[in-house]
Amino acid sequence: MLQNKKIIVGITGSIAAYKAAFLVRLLVKNGAEVRVIMTKAAADFITPLTLSTLSKNNVLTDIADESTWANHVMLGRWADVMLIAPLSCNSLAKMATGLCDNLLQAVYLSATCPVVMAPAMDEDMWHHSTTKANLEKISSFGNYIIPVEKGELASGLTGDGRMAEPESIVQYLEHFFAAKQELKGKKALVTAGPTYEALDPVRFIGNHSSGKMGIAIAAELASRGAEVTLVLGPSSVSVPEAINVIRVKSANDMYEACINTFNGADIAVMSAAVADYTPVTIAAEKIKKNDGAFTIELTKTKDILKSLGEIKKPGQLLAGFALETNNERAYALNKLTSKNADLIVLNSLNDTGAGFGHDTNKITIFDKLGNEYTFETKTKKEVAKDIVNTIIKLFHA
Ligand code: CTP
Repeated sequence: MLQNKKIIVGITGSIAAYKAAFLVRLLVKNGAEVRVIMTKAAADFITPLTLSTLSKNNVLTDIADESTWANHVMLGRWADVMLIAPLSCNSLAKMATGLCDNLLQAVYLSATCPVVMAPAMDEDMWHHSTTKANLEKISSFGNYIIPVEKGELASGLTGDGRMAEPESIVQYLEHFFAAKQELKGKKALVTAGPTYEALDPVRFIGNHSSGKMGIAIAAELASRGAEVTLVLGPSSVSVPEAINVIRVKSANDMYEACINTFNGADIAVMSAAVADYTPVTIAAEKIKKNDGAFTIELTKTKDILKSLGEIKKPGQLLAGFALETNNERAYALNKLTSKNADLIVLNSLNDTGAGFGHDTNKITIFDKLGNEYTFETKTKKEVAKDIVNTIIKLFHA
């Protein structure tokens, strides 16, 4: 599965660096072409000579030596994947902030390929709030994290923080490349976030959607090889580089962007929380208060999911969401048929950990073939995987 794959292995300063020798050997044995980049701290734990022998290539540590300059941009473009193993706490912090004080960081910042990281650190460092925040941040950029394992640590303690074993990392990469093929050559359109309906130059009607769920779906589709366009309402959540983003404000802007993009899409997932009503007029000047009550006249917005359902062609898969507070199942099934969707993802506000503002979600998926899939409460990233797996299953049904 790794035959002819071009892999950059980045090694940072951690005692787990000794395992990088086994890792590089396994990758090469599995047919991969490996280039190793080490930080200076990594070279305190394992010699470049060992790794150049095992990788059958020169090991790079510096951006430039006396006579040559390492072209970090071309290295980042050469690779099919950049694997950073072990990822130390210090390098993680640099990646989370964009620091670029060594060759490894320069290649990471210019890499156009996916980046997979296998952290390694002592248990207390692993559980520190800064480490958690940094990991969350680099995952939100679209990087892949291989979970640490539990076991004996360099400190002599036993707990979380051991780098995944080289065999598990190789297995992860094999799955990664196999999964990537699934949607290769396919185009996907995703909506996410809230919409803002302007009342006057300073006010709007909006909702609490953060955009996290839709962005996670877009990221998952992209990681399976799809070319993704994300139509995103006002959201401060960062979006992975690989995704083409069209930023919009109102429901009407979102409608226009979707209508223009849907024609070329194989898969469309409408996960935005679109306003159902918008003010009839937008005041040109700020509305001043007066003594009486204030009434806003609203008119219905266009239902984007329904509109796409009406123009959907054979071969196009259309997925929508249903956020409900009561009669959840009946309302979700009604949306499946009334909007001519192929699949509806239901989340109920009655489930703890589901809906707006959470990092988790609990969903049930209904498809047009009559299948119903119920999932446990999971992180939105994991939920996105379940949704995309279900989409792929239905797409090939
Ligand atoms: N949706 C849309 N355009 C709208 C409203 C909703 O595309 N103007 C989509 C959402 O992105 C979601 C699905 O329709 O995929 C269902 O949205 P939801 O707000 O749950 O339902 P509504 O159709 O708006 O109906 P109601 O608010 O009455 O439940």
